[in-house]
Amino acid sequence: MQPFTVAIDGPAAAGKGTISKAVAAHFDLVHLDTGLLYRAVGARMLLGEDPITAAQSLVAGDLDNPDLRTAEVAQAASRVAVIPEVRAALLDFQRAFARRSGGAVLDGRDIGTVICPRAEAKLFVTASAEVRAQRRLAELTEGGFQTDFDTVLADVKARDDRDMNRADAPLRPAEDAVILDTSDLSIDAAIAAAIDAVAARR
Ligand code: C5P
Repeated sequence: MQPFTVAIDGPAAAGKGTISKAVAAHFDLVHLDTGLLYRAVGARMLLGEDPITAAQSLVAGDLDNPDLRTAEVAQAASRVAVIPEVRAALLDFQRAFARRSGGAVLDGRDIGTVICPRAEAKLFVTASAEVRAQRRLAELTEGGFQTDFDTVLADVKARDDRDMNRADAPLRPAEDAVILDTSDLSIDAAIAAAIDAVAARR
């Protein structure tokens, strides 16, 4: 079978991660959550390392760090993600992953626009900031973190602002991406819609 690349982009907490895993399982493709790369660099910056050096020396083991899911690391990730040298250092790893035999699903912010502009299928998964904050709050509360809606909404908006307004690889849909707004969809309905959109390109 020809390599088949699926690019899934969108803002924080829109449902990209869940949708990407389900699409990968359905089409039997490997999956890379590219946000983890930026989170790993952000986590090393919080420990005092220079982010460019951290990006250039990133190893697969850095991605296994269980602390990468915290809100503090998410903010650090979006801060290191504005640095062009950090993005450049992470480019080859992502492209090599996309070329793996059989194909792959990559999710992030710039997969359809910069990393894999020739991906066979592109989705842009989005939802209103309020819906995304509500979902993130539920996840955090379930995980035992004490926080509130306004704090999470402010975090989501700060990250959106940084991701959409940076000069290098800003968050935006590729011209040929299918837009999937999950604001009013259950997760099952969102997954079904994503699988249909990818199947149409298969
Ligand atoms: O997707 P996730 O929330 O884990 O991403 C963390 C941060 O990493 C994002 O807010 C964004 O700034 C950055 N990122 C990026 N490009 C990607 C994936 C993530 O700039 N492809």
